[in-house]
Amino acid sequence: MPRLVAVDSHRSEGSAWGKVILLGEHAVVYGVPALAVGIDRGAVASAVKIDDGPCRLRVVGMEVDIVESDPDHDLARAFHELLEAERAHASNDQARGLLVTARADLPPGGGLGCSAALGVAIARAVAGEASEERIRDLAMAWERIFHGSPSGVDAAVAARGGCMLFERGRGVESVRLKGALTLCVGSTGHASSTKTMVEAVARLRQRRPEVVAKAFEGIGSLVQNARLAVEAGDRVGLGRLMDLNQMILSGLFVSTEEIERLCALARGAGALGAKLTGAGGGGSVVALVTGSGAAERVLDAWKTEGFWGFGARIAGVDVPVLATTETSSP
Ligand code: MEV
Repeated sequence: MPRLVAVDSHRSEGSAWGKVILLGEHAVVYGVPALAVGIDRGAVASAVKIDDGPCRLRVVGMEVDIVESDPDHDLARAFHELLEAERAHASNDQARGLLVTARADLPPGGGLGCSAALGVAIARAVAGEASEERIRDLAMAWERIFHGSPSGVDAAVAARGGCMLFERGRGVESVRLKGALTLCVGSTGHASSTKTMVEAVARLRQRRPEVVAKAFEGIGSLVQNARLAVEAGDRVGLGRLMDLNQMILSGLFVSTEEIERLCALARGAGALGAKLTGAGGGGSVVALVTGSGAAERVLDAWKTEGFWGFGARIAGVDVPVLATTETSSP
């Protein structure tokens, strides 16, 4: 996937990473840090000047072709909010009369940050050379339409990639990996709504505040230990911490039979740890393995039971930086 933002007077492009939360989902909504990585599947978008009418958004592969003034379509409202946030910034005229075409290489509702990746890629196409912080702000204007009050972890990873500790209200801290991480991502085959799952945890928190506070406290400790494990290259330790995180998430009722089955199959095939990733209630599972042979065994185990998955290698380098570069006119 191209990592660049290309800008000339007619056309600009942007891209974004998909995300896998290694540990910390749900608790991150309430201020507990989460450990997350960008994956080499994400979204791309381009913006072309057409006329001075309302902006238009096409999402290839999702049969979306909308104008920002359409009030009945969540995507149109999200697109409108993103554009308004950009227009409010330095009365930017770039954000008028645009045809934006986007494509995501992530399953919607799959827990892999599809909407945030689209939001970031579109923000980059619309806002050109804006800072990472402003791109995240624009993507958050988009994300709020779908997710209510998201923590911001999805947009942060979509914008930056790499491995990071994200804390709501405090931002992002890069985490240096010692050696590469090999992950398998398996799909339950059922899309889930982050908003619905976050609301379900909020209701549980209202009914059982002490239980949920204890769960979040436990997740917080696991995340801090996982960060140390990642930095030390301790894969076995990281895998155990992921398993423990999954137990706590099950206790919060965000796991499902398919998620438990995918985790069990992965562990049976040699994964060091496995858990749901994202909001749960469907979506995806992430399993940590030791190399490409082990990844194939996990993917095969999933395949034999009809589950689809893919491998992702997270390089043991510092956070990659998105370059900005000039291109010639089309
Ligand atoms: C969704 O990818 C992660 C959640 O923690 C929600 C959020 O952080 O906004 C479930």
